Amino acid sequence: ELNGIVAVDGPSGTGKSTTARRLAGSLRAAYLDTGAMYRAVTSAVLRTGVSPEDPEEVARVVRNSRVVMRMDPELPGVLLDGDDVGDEIRGKAVTGAVSAVSAVSEVREMLVAEQRRLITAVTGSGGGVVVEGRDVGTVVVPEAGLKVYLTASSDARAQRRSTQDAAAGRASDPQRVHADVRRRDALDSNRQVAPLRMAEDAVLVDTTELDVEQVLGRLHELVEERG
Ligand code: C5P
Repeated sequence: ELNGIVAVDGPSGTGKSTTARRLAGSLRAAYLDTGAMYRAVTSAVLRTGVSPEDPEEVARVVRNSRVVMRMDPELPGVLLDGDDVGDEIRGKAVTGAVSAVSAVSEVREMLVAEQRRLITAVTGSGGGVVVEGRDVGTVVVPEAGLKVYLTASSDARAQRRSTQDAAAGRASDPQRVHADVRRRDALDSNRQVAPLRMAEDAVLVDTTELDVEQVLGRLHELVEERG
């Protein structure tokens, strides 16, 4: 059992979501997917028809939206203004616009504050939480007891995204997925506010040659050592 915070950061396609969620499940901890929060507010922006490239309008929409997270690793979920947007946020439209929305500093301030509130609610009552994202170890909870940074080659990451899309019944073209992975990496790594980077005290785990079970095995070792 975990009674602290594990931060799992890294780019998309590293197996981050699957491993973070399963780690939380086996540690009987809560699970917080911060990417789902950025995706949910991106749905709000698209629903209102505001341009994702207009920071002021984006911030206004996000200020007026309510995102509720279900942190159960067996059944994680996200509600936007009361609607379950779990499927919608994985679609092409949201994936294409989320990097622009998450680059708006006011959006980040609002979501980071909410993330800290959710994490503190768990740890304050003696529970543990696994939090995944891009800036969890660097910005959201630098005090986390264990910080993991997952990487993998961009080929391996694009391959995994394609497999996930196919499994979920979403049409996807491998070349487009590859281009999308690279585009989001570049946007997320080069933005002004909270760019994707590894915390100095994070443990790097390269998942290129590892399957999910192997990654989980490594994370369990790390939790035992320092969690
Ligand atoms: O992890 P996921 O692919 O669902 O994240 C979607 C997008 O949300 C990322 O590409 C990134 O732009 C943004 N994000 C972020 N900070 C986080 C988590 C996600 O900026 N902590």
